[in-house]
Amino acid sequence: MQNLITVDEKNKVFHLHNKQISYLFSVEQGATLAHLYFGKRIRQYHGQLKYPRLLRGFSGNLADVLGREFSRDTLPEEYSSAGEMDYRTSATVLYQKNGSNSILLRYKSYEIVAGKPKLNGLPHSLVKDEDEAQTLIVTLEDQLTQVEYQLFYTIFRDLPVISRAVKIINSGEEVVHLRKAASMQIDFGNEDFEAITLPGAHANERHLQRSKIDQGIRVYGSHRGASSHQMNPFLALVRPNTDEFAGDAYGFTFVYSGNHMFELEKDQINQIRLNIGINDFNFDWKLEPNEDFQTPEVLMTYSPNGINQMSQTFHQVIFDHIIRSKFKNKVRPILVNNWEATYFDFNEKKLQTIVDQAKDLGIEMFVLDDGWFGHRDADNSSLGDWFVDQRKFPTGLSHFIDYVHNQGLKFGIWFEPEMISYDSELYKKHPDYLMHVPNRIPNPDRHQYVLDLGRKEVRQNIFDQMVKILDPNQIDYIKWDMNRHISDIYKADLTPDEQGEAYHRYILGLYDLLEKLTTRYPNILFEGCSDGGGRFDAGMAYYTPQIWASDNSDAIARLKIQYGTSLVYPQSLMTSHVSVCPNEQNGRVTPLATRGAVAMWGDLGYELDLTKLNDDEKEEVKKQITLYKQIRKLTQFGTLYRLKSPFNSNQTAWEVVSSDKRDVILTVVNILSSAQPSFTKPKLAGLNPEYDYKNIATNEIIGGDELMDTGIYDEVAHQDFVAKMYHFKAVN
Ligand code: DGJ
Repeated sequence: MQNLITVDEKNKVFHLHNKQISYLFSVEQGATLAHLYFGKRIRQYHGQLKYPRLLRGFSGNLADVLGREFSRDTLPEEYSSAGEMDYRTSATVLYQKNGSNSILLRYKSYEIVAGKPKLNGLPHSLVKDEDEAQTLIVTLEDQLTQVEYQLFYTIFRDLPVISRAVKIINSGEEVVHLRKAASMQIDFGNEDFEAITLPGAHANERHLQRSKIDQGIRVYGSHRGASSHQMNPFLALVRPNTDEFAGDAYGFTFVYSGNHMFELEKDQINQIRLNIGINDFNFDWKLEPNEDFQTPEVLMTYSPNGINQMSQTFHQVIFDHIIRSKFKNKVRPILVNNWEATYFDFNEKKLQTIVDQAKDLGIEMFVLDDGWFGHRDADNSSLGDWFVDQRKFPTGLSHFIDYVHNQGLKFGIWFEPEMISYDSELYKKHPDYLMHVPNRIPNPDRHQYVLDLGRKEVRQNIFDQMVKILDPNQIDYIKWDMNRHISDIYKADLTPDEQGEAYHRYILGLYDLLEKLTTRYPNILFEGCSDGGGRFDAGMAYYTPQIWASDNSDAIARLKIQYGTSLVYPQSLMTSHVSVCPNEQNGRVTPLATRGAVAMWGDLGYELDLTKLNDDEKEEVKKQITLYKQIRKLTQFGTLYRLKSPFNSNQTAWEVVSSDKRDVILTVVNILSSAQPSFTKPKLAGLNPEYDYKNIATNEIIGGDELMDTGIYDEVAHQDFVAKMYHFKAVN
C-alpha cells in the first residue's frame, strides 16, 4: 500500500501527502501542534518552516522556561483552546467543575490507521477498501482535567482531500462541559485571501459572496437548527486574483445538517485562522468520566487551478465517498410533482388527469406532495398524522398507486416527518412530543411545530407510522421535507445542565431516523428538501442522493442558485423543475425552452398542472423530455465546468463533459437583451485539444483546441431570457 503519511520521529513532523497535496504540522516545544503547510504536494519536507521566534508585546509567553520569544498567540496552531496564551478564537472551550474554561492542550501521542474509521451516528465519507485512504490520529491532552482530544486527519489516496474530525474523551474523574468543539482548525500565515461563502434566503439559496477579510473575527454560520437557506456550511479561501481556472482555492465543507459555524479571524499580524464546527450558540455537552464526544466531519481540499477544480473535487468526494444510496449511479427519473399544480386542493380523480398527461409526455414518475394525509386541506393541520385522507383517496392510497404504476410511471410521496400540528391526532395523544420550553407558549412557523426527534420514542412513533404506509404500498420515492427552523429548544428528557445538548441531539435523532428508513427501504429513492434548499448539505447527501435546490424555480433566479450550489455539490444531487409562468415566487415570465434548459442543469422534473399546457407547450415539453433522456447520463454525472457567472455578467454558461471527453453539452443563457448587444464568445474547457467535435445540431466540425481557445460566437436573440444548448461529440 502506498504510504500517505510520513512521520519524522526526531523532529516530530507529520506529513500527509498524495500525488496532489501536502499537509504538514509539527510538535513545537515538545507540546504544541503547530501548523506548517497545506497546499501543492511537496516531495520531502526539509524543516525550513520552523516558526520564527520574535518577542511581541501582549502576546504571552506560556512558560518562562521557553523564553519570551515563544508565544502561542501568533504561532499557527492545529487545535487551540481557551487559556493557553492564544488570544485568537479557540477551537474548543471546556468548562470545568471549578468554573474555569482554561485548559492547556499538549501533544501526547499519535497513531496511523489504514483506511478511515467510521463516525458512529454521524454521516461521514467512506472508503470501500483500506488502500484508498490513511488516517492519522493525534492525541492532545489537558493534564489537569485528563481530557483528551483526538484529532483525526484522513488523507485520500486519489483526491486532493483531507477529512478532519475530533473525538473528545473525558479520561478524568470529574464531569466537564464542552461548550465549543470545532471539528477542525487551520491557521495560515500572513497570506492574502478572500473568503467565498454561500449565503441566501428562502427561495434565494446559495448566492455566491466573495468578501475581503479584515482584521477581527467574522462568523459565517447558522443556529436555526438546520444547515439553512441563510448560510450554507461551506467556505473557500482564495487569492484576490483566483478565478474559475487559475489561482489557489482552499475549500471546506461541513458534513453536518444542523447548527454550524465557520469562524474566520485575521489576527494582529494578518495571519488567518479558520475554525469549523458545530455552532457554539446554546451548545453545552456534558461529558461524564469515560464518556466521549464525536464532532462531525469537515472535508477540505486545495486547488492550485482555481475554483472550478475545487468544485470538481468536492463533487467527486461527495459523489464517491458520501452518497451511499444504490441510486447514486442510476439516471434519475423525470418526475412531475403536484405541489404547484394543485397545492392542497386535489383528489384522486384530479391527480389521475395529471398522471395521464404525464404518461403522454414521457414523464417517468408522479410525486404526490403535501396534503394526502390526516385532514390536511391547508398548512395548519395534520402534521404527525401519517395516515391516508380517505376523503381524497376514497378507495385507498394503494388504488391510486396502482393507477400510477399501470400508466407505466413510478410513484413518489411526500413526508414531513420532523413536524407536528396542534390540529393532529398525534398532538392529542402526545402533546409532550412537541418541542417547547416549560411554561412558555411555543412559537409557530407556518402553523407548525417541531417534534423532539432527539427522543427515541418520538422517532419510533414516526417510524412506525411511516412503515404502515411504506410496507403495504409500492412506493418508489420519498420527498423528505422540513418546513421551518427550530425554536423553543428544550428537551423534556434532559436535566437543566444538559439542555445545551438539544440542538445536536435533534440532528443525531434525525440521522438515526434517516438511517433506519434508508436501510429498511434501499429500493426507495429519497430526496431531501427543506422548504426548498434549506438543508442542502453533505450530511443530508449521505442519506438522500438528491435534494430539492429551491422553491424558486424561476429559470433566471435559478441561475444564481444553481451556480452557487455547484460550488460544492454535484449535479445529480440537485433537483430542478420546470414550473409555470408568471413564476409563482417572483412573477417573472421566461420562455418554456429556457426553463427546460436551466432545469436540465440538475435532475429534471416538472411542477405544474400538465393538463393546462396548450398544444405547443406540450410539444415543447415532449421535446425537452426526449432530449433529456438522451443527455441526462452526461448532464447528471459528467464533469461540470462553470464558464460564465450570473453574479458578474449578463450571461450564464456552464458545460458538462463526459469522462472520456468525447461528449459535451454547453448551455448559455443570455439574461437581458439589448438593441446593441456586444457579441459574446463562450470558450469551452476540459476538452481534448486533439479531438474534432461535431456540433450535433449543425454538423459543423470544430477542433477541441478551437472550442477552448478561439471560442464560438453565441447567437444574438432580441429577447430576454434566452437559453441555447449545444451538443458536441468527438468524431475522431
Ligand atoms: C416546501 C417544499 O419545498 C415544496 O416543494 C412543497 O413540498 C411544500 N413544502 C409542501 O408543503
